[in-house]
Amino acid sequence: MKKIALGVCSSVSIYKACEIIRLFQSEGFGVRVIMTEKATRFIDPYLFTSLTGERTIVHLFDDQQRPIEHISLVDEVSLLLVAPATANLIGKMASGIADDFLTTFYLAAKCPVLVAPAMNEAMYLHPQTQENIRKLKSLGVEFVEPDTGYLACGKKGPGRLAPPEKIVQQGLRLVRAKDTFRDKVVLVTAGPTREFLDPVRFVSNPASGKMGYELAREAYQLGAEVILISGPTWLEPPPGVYLERVTEAAEMKEAVLKHYARARVVLMTAAVADFRFRKTRPEKIRKTEIERTLEIETTPDILEELGQHKGQRLLVGFAAETGQAVEKALEKMKRKQVDLMVANDVSQPEVGFASDENEVVLLWPDGRSRKIPRTSKRKISQEILAEVEVLLNERKSKR
Ligand code: C5P
Repeated sequence: MKKIALGVCSSVSIYKACEIIRLFQSEGFGVRVIMTEKATRFIDPYLFTSLTGERTIVHLFDDQQRPIEHISLVDEVSLLLVAPATANLIGKMASGIADDFLTTFYLAAKCPVLVAPAMNEAMYLHPQTQENIRKLKSLGVEFVEPDTGYLACGKKGPGRLAPPEKIVQQGLRLVRAKDTFRDKVVLVTAGPTREFLDPVRFVSNPASGKMGYELAREAYQLGAEVILISGPTWLEPPPGVYLERVTEAAEMKEAVLKHYARARVVLMTAAVADFRFRKTRPEKIRKTEIERTLEIETTPDILEELGQHKGQRLLVGFAAETGQAVEKALEKMKRKQVDLMVANDVSQPEVGFASDENEVVLLWPDGRSRKIPRTSKRKISQEILAEVEVLLNERKSKR
């Protein structure tokens, strides 16, 4: 099992460390907690021991401790995360002071180091703290910017510990990033579009955006710069991802084209509406005045247009069908010139639109295919990006 070391300092936000532990555990990581002496004034180490199943470390010279444990633990962990990190701890790290287990461990660590500061806003903005942060950054330490908001001291400003989900996503990116995705722009579209008849009526579809949001999250963890163009959804955007919200297909097309030049991979997950009303009324139509027949027209096919100006980009299309999904997806793969097509049959109950799970068939232009049996959309996003990685590496070796 992969493991991380979580350094915990004396901050009121210390309770958020429990959530951080849980989130890492749900991603399959073991967590070993190292507390500063002062942090034990806020929370008894036994709480973290109970949550992690491993004895929390506080002192350098604990009786039950293996000799030079700070050195042996170094080889076991793939990340040192300090959250919350106080001004004092950051200052000690920046000047190489090693007077307790956590600071000694930092100097011995060979893995990536991520620091999430939490402190009063004046302390955070103090030139000394900022200088310490700059120095640590120049040494390769990464930081999760604190939030701006109400602080424990009653003041408002920067210094609040970043949300646990954001900290964990940044940590996972440090552990999981791959050279293939580093410095590459991955453009993802997600969710439905809405095509309006008047200000209160529209045509749309039940797409939730979950598949696209999972792909965006996974691409971020793999080290990519991710641009997510999203139709209307209630989902929280994954931290670290640049989000642009759109409503109609025409807006989605404009947003996609704006970023297309920089994109290396495009994952066109959005369920773009295929038609819209020929006329959109500026005022709500009265029931008595509605025409019997409403004229419609097709929306622009974004993916088809991208396929015509593909260059070196890798295009991934999605085909949600009701019956004969593979046959229909194969036709679309050719017509839209995509490099990988993901077909799914949305007529099956419990998979597809709005569900947390899906069952898909991956199709390649060379005739290969691969079925991914029913599983979570998170797992499917991992499988899709693993195949994208293969395609990117194949192209690199051909050049
Ligand atoms: O033709 P169909 O809508 O089934 O095609 C599905 C694929 O094409 C998806 O990847 C979808 O995002 C994309 N698409 C598009 N523009 C449209 C309709 C679909 O880019 N107007």
